[in-house]
Amino acid sequence: MASISGNERPDLRDLLAFYAAAGVDDALAEEPIDRFAESAQRQAAPAPEAARSTQADLGRPDRNMAERAAPPPPQRPAASAAVPDEAQAAAARELAGKAATLDELRQIMEGFEGCNLKATAKSMVFADGNPEADLMLVGEAPGRDEDLEGLPFVGRSGQLLDRILAAIGLDRKSAYIANVIPWRPPGNRTPTPHETEICRPFIERQIALANPKVLVTLGGPSAKLLVGSPDGILRLRGNWKTHTTAQGTVIPVMPTLHPAYLLRNPAHKKLAWRDFLEVKAKLRELGSL
Ligand code: URA
Repeated sequence: MASISGNERPDLRDLLAFYAAAGVDDALAEEPIDRFAESAQRQAAPAPEAARSTQADLGRPDRNMAERAAPPPPQRPAASAAVPDEAQAAAARELAGKAATLDELRQIMEGFEGCNLKATAKSMVFADGNPEADLMLVGEAPGRDEDLEGLPFVGRSGQLLDRILAAIGLDRKSAYIANVIPWRPPGNRTPTPHETEICRPFIERQIALANPKVLVTLGGPSAKLLVGSPDGILRLRGNWKTHTTAQGTVIPVMPTLHPAYLLRNPAHKKLAWRDFLEVKAKLRELGSL
């Protein structure tokens, strides 16, 4: 990188704009942390006493022992670092099962500390729209605008979603909208499979409690999770599937393309249009329109 002389100091606004354009839009600490240096330091350090004796007892080397025994890096909540992900998912399942209403579920999720995404998100994005509606739409995870407002689909893809709903005579008073993941992944990265599994019981309970007549999944991740298919969204979309709640209620699901994908691939809007015409026909058939 070129050095900067005294009178060539970068404008901090330009630097921030550069970071934002590169997707670096979350400051997690006052100072940058060099994670590479941390892990190099841990690898170089002798294994702590407890780790050494355990390895000796087992009679086999464990490459990761020193790293696992090392103190958790700063900024990471101790609870999520210390408890394995399966335990977090089990805790989420137990807690979600206790919610008798959507309000209770929201409160339970607000108190849940088992998902690391909560530590970096500004807000929990639970839902928008009408929980009594016959149509429920489920996206993937909140983005920056949703995180700031605490509501799903309020950014550019939300505006497109509103136009799509309007095209079939619906709006946020006649639809209920949520996401698989209620906390924004930092920098809008894709949620990890662990994060998705930890949050799965919450969205499943939210669907069961809202009890819509028709479910629309927006994008591949929510389709895969809620219809339990490994197929890609371009294969899944446009075909009716089902989602079965823990109570055995079978809900018809229309997987469709995510509005953010449609913004990047406007030629595919016609596919989403066909999918939503199917949704409209299904709602008519069920007496909801
Ligand atoms: N994308 C999603 O999947 N959900 C939102 O709420 C916003 C963008």
